[in-house]
Amino acid sequence: MSGPNTSFDPKQVAVLGAEAIATMVAEALAAVSAAGDLAVLKGVRLAHAGDRSPLALANRDIGALPPAAKAEVGKRVGEARGAVKAALDSRQIELERARDEFALAEEFIDVTLPVMRVPLGARHPLTTVMERICDVFIAMGYDIAEGPEAEAEWVNFDALNVPPDHPARTMQDTFYVGSPESGVVLRTQTSPIQIRAMLDRQLPIYVVAPGRVYRTDELDATHTPVFHQVEGLAVDEGLTMGDLKGTLDHFAQEMFGPGIVTRLRPSYFPFTEPSAELDVQCFVCRGASIDNSEEPCGTCGSEGWIEWGGCGMVNPRVLQSVGIDPAKYRGFAFGMGIERTLMFRNGVTDMRDMVEGDLRFSLAFGLES
Ligand code: DAH
Repeated sequence: MSGPNTSFDPKQVAVLGAEAIATMVAEALAAVSAAGDLAVLKGVRLAHAGDRSPLALANRDIGALPPAAKAEVGKRVGEARGAVKAALDSRQIELERARDEFALAEEFIDVTLPVMRVPLGARHPLTTVMERICDVFIAMGYDIAEGPEAEAEWVNFDALNVPPDHPARTMQDTFYVGSPESGVVLRTQTSPIQIRAMLDRQLPIYVVAPGRVYRTDELDATHTPVFHQVEGLAVDEGLTMGDLKGTLDHFAQEMFGPGIVTRLRPSYFPFTEPSAELDVQCFVCRGASIDNSEEPCGTCGSEGWIEWGGCGMVNPRVLQSVGIDPAKYRGFAFGMGIERTLMFRNGVTDMRDMVEGDLRFSLAFGLES
């Protein structure tokens, strides 16, 4: 039987000797001070103080030592681990402070700077629809034409073959600028731009003219005294109603979707002959709601068609009034209301929403119409 083991072989504990432990500590401290940020330090902590670090393994080995060596080596390893932990902790605090200082400097907000008091606006859907319409016609080679909103009565009415006693000319319908004798009105339609285009431009003429117009209506859900129309005019040799119809069908498709066509119903306008009401096929039901009580359509009232505007072949008398020879040239023209277009195209039920300027209304349309 052997007696109690009171001595130990120093070779047996060489791996836990002062030199080896000092090297582990030195390596650990070097790694700690080299750690430039918290993520690196985390790795250093794992490598030098984690469960599988050299010092942790050394600590584990103490148990296998002869009892006489345990106390001495245990103290040495314990101090070494303590030193490494202290270095890690103080580096941790240093790096955290550096991180916080950096964040404070970087994320500095000057709360005394003036705020942006005016919220960003939105484009009004009337504007975007008019631009869209202009784009469609520009793509077909049309120019954009303009005219004044305070217009000569002669241009707004007489040149367009509207007779002097026409009810539209009364003060019940038309705003006269100054007195009714002034000869100046707020234009009641964009059709006078046709006259200006024909007076100002070289033939042939292909123009589209969006604009604001005025009538003496009270503002309610379906009327507004200030509204917008878009006018189209083509004057060239040999134009026919077929050209008008083809142009309108293309326009309808660009506005309402592929395959949508237009329908012309005989009508009367003083400035066109023949004249027609212009209907567009319902782009929601495409006619499927007609006589079909199963699937009523709210957009067209189950009519299958929606009234959109007026059109026709330019009346020869109008061509004559601006000095164009009707024997050589023919024209077609059309006009429609923009507010009305928005109402059925975008489901706006109250015209007042379009004039009140509430941003929430415009924002709902996004940037495009
Ligand atoms: N100016 C007409 C209106 O305000 C609309 C219109 C009808 C314009 C026929 C046209 C047209 O160019 O040919 O009701």
